Amino acid sequence: MTDKAHIAVVGTGWWATTVHIPALLANPRALPPVLVDKDPARLKAAAEKYNLPHAYTSIEEAKAAHPGLHGAIIATTHAHHYEAASASLSQGLHLLIEKPMTLLAAHAKALSDQADAAGLQILMGYTFPYIEPLKRAKRIIDDGLIGDVEYITCSMSSMTIEFLRGKPALYAPNGGYTVTGPSERTYADPAVSGGGQGVLQATHSVAMMFHLIESQGIRADRVSAFMNPLDTRVDVIDVMAVKMNTGALATVGTTGNIGKGDVGFVEVIVHGSKGRVMAEGFHGEYAMRLHDGREEHVGPTHEPYPGDVPSQKLIEIVLDGAQPLFPGKTNGLYTVELLEAGYRSAARDGMPVTVGELYA
Ligand SMILES: NC(=O)c1ccc[n+]([C@@H]2O[C@H](COP(=O)([O-])OP(=O)(O)OC[C@H]3O[C@@H](n4cnc5c(N)ncnc54)[C@H](O)[C@@H]3O)[C@@H](O)[C@H]2O)c1
Repeated sequence: MTDKAHIAVVGTGWWATTVHIPALLANPRALPPVLVDKDPARLKAAAEKYNLPHAYTSIEEAKAAHPGLHGAIIATTHAHHYEAASASLSQGLHLLIEKPMTLLAAHAKALSDQADAAGLQILMGYTFPYIEPLKRAKRIIDDGLIGDVEYITCSMSSMTIEFLRGKPALYAPNGGYTVTGPSERTYADPAVSGGGQGVLQATHSVAMMFHLIESQGIRADRVSAFMNPLDTRVDVIDVMAVKMNTGALATVGTTGNIGKGDVGFVEVIVHGSKGRVMAEGFHGEYAMRLHDGREEHVGPTHEPYPGDVPSQKLIEIVLDGAQPLFPGKTNGLYTVELLEAGYRSAARDGMPVTVGELYA
């Protein structure tokens, strides 16, 4: 086994240049990353900023030049996750895929099968469950303290409205984006983004829910949804009612229309047959209340956003044979199933859509 991981970053836009590339450069267990972007201008800007000489417009070229590559981080625009991830799996690479895994459940399933057949791992790029209060919340549910999951609410508000309007410059930090911000189409053009707040943000709270209740084998069975685009071409406000395969019921709600500088919140409350757990990610808070009266409360801890943790976890998969905390074939896939069914339902004015239909 080698002692340093060699990782390709596929998609050198806003998030890769702000978080993944610096995190890999700072990680003593990683070699400097190889960069891949199909847009030569974005590729060149990232390569120059970080003084990285190895930059390619396809993963095939990158692998041919660096046969020892171990893994890839897929940080492309949403509509291109599937093609970029599939091409990277074909090159024998373990993957960290940014959220959402894909836009279509059939594509997420195909990637899972491709990875399994090649003996490769897919880790999803979710972040909130790495913080301590969420780890505690999951342990409580794993240990059976709240009993069988019966009712869940996922609620998220976040500052995305200008992204969804195609005006990312309005969210540029003082001094501008590190290298490049999202393009005007990244989150505003449905052909590129695949949707709005649902695929951009509700995906976080839904994945957090499936992670927290992982021990109970729960996934969506059918979804009924309504979405409001406000003045954009994508969804800004979403509500979804979900019936799970176990009979448990859930609601998923979200808005991207909050004020500039507002942190918002991402909260999952899981009620079971013996009690409930609340977990909140942006501020770092956890609370338990059991039917027998026992209570526990942690936070808000205000831990820093764990954006650099996913690439570190990919390195542990590559070098140590670690298992992904958010596997593509469960957490990634189940999240895409719920969201795709939600989008299909909203397009039919709330008519329920079964997950089975997504594979027909
Ligand atoms: N985890 C988080 O908190 C977080 C935060 C922001 C963004 N993200 C995710 O990161 C991903 C990237 O978002 P962004 O804002 O950086 O987008 P972006 O538009 O700034 O960058 C995407 C890049 O991908 C490139 N690209 C598209 N298709 C490609 C392909 N097939 N091969 C190679 N390159 C390709 C584009 O040219 C572009 O440079 C998205 O999935 C987004 O949801 C995650």
